[in-house]
Amino acid sequence: MSVKILMVCLGNICRSPLAEGILASKLPNDKFFVDSAGTGSWHVGHSPDRRSIATAKKNGLDITNQKGRQFSRSDFDSFDYIFVMDSSNLRDVIHLAQNDTQKEKVQLVLDAIFPNENVDVPDPYYGTANGFDMVYQMLDDACEVIAQRLIAKHR
Ligand code: 4NP
Repeated sequence: MSVKILMVCLGNICRSPLAEGILASKLPNDKFFVDSAGTGSWHVGHSPDRRSIATAKKNGLDITNQKGRQFSRSDFDSFDYIFVMDSSNLRDVIHLAQNDTQKEKVQLVLDAIFPNENVDVPDPYYGTANGFDMVYQMLDDACEVIAQRLIAKHR
């Protein structure tokens, strides 16, 4: 049985598709399954934002096959780890949790590199193209640490 990890943002078209692609690329896919979702429903069924696709491609990742979906309560049962991009995602996801076991699955993705500092991955949607490079770098650094920890823990 594989270990299941869910990356969550607001729209599931900018940040979490990158996070999904980056983390999946750092984990052996026979043991780990990585998915992503958004707390909002605007982009259900949509491909990632073209700027996320371009940033991923520049870094050797293909995320074009992803499709947006909305986070749902059942994800607490389906996934072992839930990484959120910012404090509003954290609040929205925790709000849907029904017990402490579910709450304990949820953590800010940048806690991996900035523990206890509550650092957000900024939403690049309304910003400039270089916002996507910044997001990529932050996520790549955090996912490197997360992947090493997961591999060590589930060997
Ligand atoms: P994301 O960015 O949460 O990183 O996917 C957003 C994309 C779209 C919207 C919000 C955030 N939106 O409101 O449509």
